[in-house]
Amino acid sequence: MTGIRLTAPVPGWAIDADVVVVGSGVAGLTAALRCAAAGLDTVVVTKARLDDGSTRWAQGGIAAALGEGDTPEQHLDDTLVAGAGLCDEAAVRTLVTEGPDAVRRLITTGAHFDTTDSGDIALTREGGHHRRRIAHAGGDATGAEISRALVEAVREAALHTIENALVLDLLTDAEGRTAGVSLHVMGEGQHDGVGAVRAPSVVLATGGMGQVFSATTNPPVSTGDGVALALRAGAEVSDLEFVQFHPTVLFLGADSEGQQPLVSEAVRGEGAHLVDADGVRFMLGQHELAELAPRDIVAKGITRRMHEKGAEHMYLDARHFGAAMWEQRFPTILAACRSHGIDPVTEPIPVAPAAHYASGGVRTDLRGRTTVPGLYACGEVACTGVHGANRLASNSLLEGLVFAERIAADIAEARPPRTEPAEASRDADDLVPLLAPEARTAIQRTMTRGAGVLRSADSLATAAEGLEALHREAAADAEADGAKAVVPGVDAWEVTNLLLVSRVLVAAARDREETRGCHWREDRPDRDDAHGRRHLVVRIGPDRTPVVHRTETAAFPPVRPSD
Ligand code: SIN
Repeated sequence: MTGIRLTAPVPGWAIDADVVVVGSGVAGLTAALRCAAAGLDTVVVTKARLDDGSTRWAQGGIAAALGEGDTPEQHLDDTLVAGAGLCDEAAVRTLVTEGPDAVRRLITTGAHFDTTDSGDIALTREGGHHRRRIAHAGGDATGAEISRALVEAVREAALHTIENALVLDLLTDAEGRTAGVSLHVMGEGQHDGVGAVRAPSVVLATGGMGQVFSATTNPPVSTGDGVALALRAGAEVSDLEFVQFHPTVLFLGADSEGQQPLVSEAVRGEGAHLVDADGVRFMLGQHELAELAPRDIVAKGITRRMHEKGAEHMYLDARHFGAAMWEQRFPTILAACRSHGIDPVTEPIPVAPAAHYASGGVRTDLRGRTTVPGLYACGEVACTGVHGANRLASNSLLEGLVFAERIAADIAEARPPRTEPAEASRDADDLVPLLAPEARTAIQRTMTRGAGVLRSADSLATAAEGLEALHREAAADAEADGAKAVVPGVDAWEVTNLLLVSRVLVAAARDREETRGCHWREDRPDRDDAHGRRHLVVRIGPDRTPVVHRTETAAFPPVRPSD
């Protein structure tokens, strides 16, 4: 094993496979199904139940040029504009050209999308799209339907799945090539406690890291485990400073923490208005698309208005939809609002931005390969270059689908032989000291205050200091003769992952001294194209601190020098 790793017991059990897929959202299950269909012995490892990841929570839909008159070229244009000069154009072109057929294959797999009276796929609009190109299911339950279809297909294909399993670290062979993962399984009988899945190809599809902030649309499992694993294994990550804050999250109070209910962009796509407490439509005049401007612009517009008015939230007014449209088109959101005492049929919905999507992640090429041989990444954990500085709404399910298929094709073609993981070093220098589970709230508050929707050099410096103090404390406790050392366990591993990804995110955000996309620096309000049209690539240095370097252009260099 190369790199550093979490303090954890030695694996007590092991199984062998050709491929291990970590994560069970649209990206993970698509990769697993395609690998299995290619005859590869495939194991799916997932942190909770198969359908507990972020995909299930996606409301709006999946963007693809499926409508009459729409073209991949127009989808490309909208994606590049939203990405604020930082998309990798080759990656976007791959997404938009392969996207429509990938959606059709998803339908063949069993996903049912809403249709028009004439039987075509019904398409809606969301922020940043100049056309109706978002396919949806169950009104506003698109992710749930995709998840249902894929989970059913995985069960039908009788894939080997291990649920309730937190992945810990990458295993590597004597040459430093991927040889599997170590993981901890919570009470599954056959595989229990810390074990290993040995495989020459590992696909990370672990989703996002929204739980680094106090309030997020992400489910509790989104603790950045895949990015943290990749960093410890020596992989490069990129664009981590670009955290997308969803503009319209149901406001449940300034102190409300954890997963918050999303109010889909599609509600604005169907004609809802953003208003302040006086009923003024404040997005008019700020952008030609008003409420349907790209997400970063709407989030900034709301935040700015909240500051001007000294308000904790704004309102989304869709009373004019009427009860029938609310019930048919947005049943999930209607139920969520009503369960919190708000009736969108008769009153405007209080909304405020909350952390939603990590546009950055583990850097990959167009085949989903990371900088570590044999390690792949797709979905939110990955940074393919598609999203640039700001993801276009509903491009993420599509990205998961398209790049998962590409990864499966690459593995099926390469068919690397199985190798033996190298003996794990027990050298204390190679072990990452664990944080006490109680540090979770401190990390989330530090990140929300210092690296949230509004950032500045000062706020980021304060956040960095707070995070480094936690890092030093954990190291000191681990060295202090074991008495104070934190006992390994799921909560401690998760919070240690949260700290690592937070430190890297803050390091990148400090380095990006401009405002671009969803990275908003109050002290640097302008975009600096001379220096900023580059990606910040980060890896963990020998002293375990984040080392940031810039790419030459907005296109990613190859992940392997030999390519
Ligand atoms: C939404 O429905 O607004 C979320 C869609 C997305 O994040 O792409």
